[in-house]
Amino acid sequence: MNTRALPILLGTLSLLSILAGCDQRVVASGMPYDPVARGSYLVRTMGCGDCHTPRDQNGKEIAGLELTGHPADAPLPSWEPAMLEKQNLATIAATGTAFAGPFGISVAPNLTPDRETGTGELTADGLLQSWRSGKHWREDRMVLPPMPVPYYRELEEADVRAIHAYLHSLKPQRNQAPQSKPAPH
Ligand code: HEC
Repeated sequence: MNTRALPILLGTLSLLSILAGCDQRVVASGMPYDPVARGSYLVRTMGCGDCHTPRDQNGKEIAGLELTGHPADAPLPSWEPAMLEKQNLATIAATGTAFAGPFGISVAPNLTPDRETGTGELTADGLLQSWRSGKHWREDRMVLPPMPVPYYRELEEADVRAIHAYLHSLKPQRNQAPQSKPAPH
């Protein structure tokens, strides 16, 4: 190799390594999209567990029952007709998973993918349709407060699908939360 070719070769090599470096950064920032990881992040930060995970007497979320909804055998908050007139009257179950108010009794369901008692039969399209329309995915009625469907309507489709993917990645747990009861009109 003559002496003039050496700097050219080194220059070319360093240019190649810079390009390779750039390439790696692109790969690093453009990590393959992982819907389950995204869904896990959304479920955590959107506070689904705040209403769908039962709490103990000290208000602490019960470990092992994450997102399993209002326990089948836990008492429901009491509803009274006065709630229809006195809009300031409402009660909450001590577990933090069921609510009574002017809307009726609203019970947070099991979000783990158990086929009978949870979201096993709920498809990503079904969840998207429910949150876009405000209609319950399984029952023929509107979703009751305090489930924040009016806000979730604005979620991007990919995020709703990611939430669904994450819920379906959980271990199915059996817990038949009692049915919600909309207030009589
Ligand atoms: C402020 C309390 C609260 C929060 C926060 C909340 N939920 Fe709910 N959710 C409820 C209650 C109560 C119900 C029962 C509503 C009913 O029966 O009409 C419910 C119902 C549901 C349903 C069945 C109704 C439907 O949409 O078809 C699904 C699915 C659901 N929640 C998923 C979620 C997910 C996922 C999150 C977080 C992204 C979440 N919820 C956050 C309280 C909450």
